[in-house]
Amino acid sequence: MSLLEVVSLSKEFGGLKAVQDVGFAVEAGVVHSVIGPNGAGKTTLFNLITGVYTPTQGEIRLDGVDVAGRRPDQLAALGVARTFQNLQICMNMDACENVMVGAHLRLDRNVIRAALRWPGLVRRDRELREEAEALMAFVGLGDHVHARADGLSYGILKRLEIARALAARPRILFLDEPAAGLNPRETIEVGELVRRIAADGVTVVLVEHDMKMVMSLSDRILVMDYGRKLVEGTPDEVRRHPDVVAAYLGKHA
Ligand SMILES: Nc1ncnc2c1ncn2[C@@H]1O[C@H](COP(=O)(O)OP(=O)(O)OP(=O)(O)O)[C@@H](O)[C@H]1O
Ligand SMILES: [Mg+2]
Repeated sequence: MSLLEVVSLSKEFGGLKAVQDVGFAVEAGVVHSVIGPNGAGKTTLFNLITGVYTPTQGEIRLDGVDVAGRRPDQLAALGVARTFQNLQICMNMDACENVMVGAHLRLDRNVIRAALRWPGLVRRDRELREEAEALMAFVGLGDHVHARADGLSYGILKRLEIARALAARPRILFLDEPAAGLNPRETIEVGELVRRIAADGVTVVLVEHDMKMVMSLSDRILVMDYGRKLVEGTPDEVRRHPDVVAAYLGKHA
């Protein structure tokens, strides 16, 4: 059974079919990328799978269970985490606190129990902080733990978002354009980070326009165009496919 299976998934906004009858499966342990021209429906697909939008139609199966329509926090509890194409960082908190927000997504069920035992709560806060600091070191931000978020560069904030998503201890992590706006060196570093995340056993679904990164990291690639699935396959199959070449040359040439 696939970790994630999407069946005939559609989302309409008014008359606009942002995602149309898309089906694909993500196996546990892979890096599975989603590519396509601007407006192809990639972010909408992520928003559907992570519970931000309710599908107009279709199924989203996690370990065979249909989770379509569940809320983001319910999906987080099942091991689904994500980053956002437009950064969603709390600028008035420090970097470490932003990462701790991700851990709370996982632990909020126990908050009331913990609140009844104040010393336990203090201890938990310390544990979460230590865990967040370890994650920041993992993503290469060990020097920025106590920095205020509003003083950090864009490239660092992009990685901070990844640390926050990891704090929820996901089984499957959705990254929406983690390299957008980064310089070439930062882009290579994020590529290496994605590789290390996958090596740790987290399944990664990646939306990214940097083709070099996509082609070198991905086990499989889903190509979307105008809300539909155009092609799905290995990087080699996708690279050679005439429809893919046409979709990209048609819009980007
Ligand atoms: N909340 C919304 N309301 C109305 N239309 C939307 C909404 N979200 C997305 N759309 C539309 O759906 C289509 C797909 O958008 P989406 O953001 O999913 O594309 P994308 O593939 O992520 O593009 P990009 O590469 O530019 O990020 C676009 O035409 C977009 O304008
Ligand atoms: Mg997008």
